[in-house]
Amino acid sequence: MPDCTFYTTAIDYTNAAPHIGHAYEKVLTDVLTRFEKLRTREVYFLTGVDQHGQKVQQSAEKEGLAPQEFADRCTAKFLSLWETLGVQFDGWAATTAPVHKTVVGKILQRLHDEGQLYKQAHRGFYSVRQEQFLTDKERNEAGEFGPEWGQVVELQEENWYFRLAQHRDWLLNFIDSHDSFVVPSFRRPELRNAVERLSGDLCISRPKSRLTWGIELPFDPEYVTYVWFDALINYISFAGYLAEAGSGLPDFNRLWPARAHVIGKDILIPAHGVYWPIMLHALGFSDDQIPTLLVHGWWNIGGAKISKSLGNTVDPAVLVERYGAEALRYYLMADITTGKDADFSEERLRMRFNEELANNVGNLLNRTLNMALRYRSSVLRCPAVDDTSLKALAGPEASSALNAYTQAMEQYQVDAALRAVVGFARACNQLIEASAPWKLAKDPAQAELLDAVLYHLAESLRIIGILLVPVLPDSARGIFQQLNWPHPARLEDATWGKLPEGHVLGTPTPLFPRLEASPEAAD
Ligand code: MSP
Repeated sequence: MPDCTFYTTAIDYTNAAPHIGHAYEKVLTDVLTRFEKLRTREVYFLTGVDQHGQKVQQSAEKEGLAPQEFADRCTAKFLSLWETLGVQFDGWAATTAPVHKTVVGKILQRLHDEGQLYKQAHRGFYSVRQEQFLTDKERNEAGEFGPEWGQVVELQEENWYFRLAQHRDWLLNFIDSHDSFVVPSFRRPELRNAVERLSGDLCISRPKSRLTWGIELPFDPEYVTYVWFDALINYISFAGYLAEAGSGLPDFNRLWPARAHVIGKDILIPAHGVYWPIMLHALGFSDDQIPTLLVHGWWNIGGAKISKSLGNTVDPAVLVERYGAEALRYYLMADITTGKDADFSEERLRMRFNEELANNVGNLLNRTLNMALRYRSSVLRCPAVDDTSLKALAGPEASSALNAYTQAMEQYQVDAALRAVVGFARACNQLIEASAPWKLAKDPAQAELLDAVLYHLAESLRIIGILLVPVLPDSARGIFQQLNWPHPARLEDATWGKLPEGHVLGTPTPLFPRLEASPEAAD
């Protein structure tokens, strides 16, 4: 077993404009990573950009730039977005990096030497405009290739193939015997069906006559590597696989296998669910060295796919400007169930923030600190007795919130984890209503009960702050500052009774100012 938890995300197409779908995947993985840190485990998060291929070459040509220059410019957009969103990764996989190219070359050479690759001529219909071979699936009802394909010519081309089909039975057995290969499990049957239907091998080369922007095959310089074959290798090349001494890359044995590759449902079949395990298997990775695929759903808009051509893409950087990074992180984590799809709405972003953070957690913090200031000059007294009347008022306990939260996080269900925290904060607000500290403060006989209520609220807020760290690191810091709790956040401190007798709370400052509709909002 590796001694460092390793998460990766799909590497984004460098020529794509980052949208909320990309942002969701990175924030989700950042949250899982921060959760591991919160429980003081060592963790490594790898993400990056997929920089080769036809589309990059074409877009660069259109703009009159060299492909590398174009790719670098696009990459900068992603990097700046991750910084704005507080996505903290440890490794950056940019597939034009020399370390990556070297490993891809070594892998190809090895597969070639072991007879896993062969060269063959293919005759078929080729779309000059789309620069791809067409199959019968592309024919329209009249049995023809429609005008969208432009000029279609019959062409013969030689290419290199990877013996994929040879490993079909191994993969079927592997899927059947490894329940956790694909999470959530409802995606397994569709993958299994796809593997059952697998018949052909994988074409892993493109002749330089039509694509130059790729990694050259080490044994045939007339060809570059098919972009998916190159891109998938990022998960191991940037994790230190076959790394040369002094490369500065991590120690592969400490990281591998990854706890999960976090990917969207569109790239499970065939790339991650078929090509990738077979590539690893062909390279000699044992079954327990094949990582889990955590497959998330899609963000849609008004039920439709987000796409440039529909003109419905939402730029996460604009949302951050409008509402702040933490509001966007919260929404992206709270309003989707991992594995399922969700519909993006700015109105819901504001609503959930206002109801769950501003009116609930923020309000709890503000009221607690104000009452403590007014009635006790901000000094806390530990409850002298375990007051049963307080227990009756207090509702769900911190420990059950903590259990529900931890269980949900371990199963990648961040929305459920947040529900546990928000529900606990709501119960604390109810405790304020039920115990009415403003009445207790007027009755000296109730002094101990008032102390107990204030302590309960402050302790609860400290625990809520800890549980919010992975999703809302800055706001959690704000909670700790106001509570005057200077310790590094650790999940093991999310247990009752850590605020000491005589603890002095800080000054109340509104933490989650309500979000207002923006005139430009796309509600
Ligand atoms: N470059 C490939 C991945 C190679 S991994 C070896 C790719 N890039 S992508 O830019 O199209 O997508 C990057 C990730 O964003 C993928 O996991 C994809 O599923 C995810 N998403 C793209 N659109 C999405 C939504 N609308 N919603 C959620 N995630 C989506 O695929």
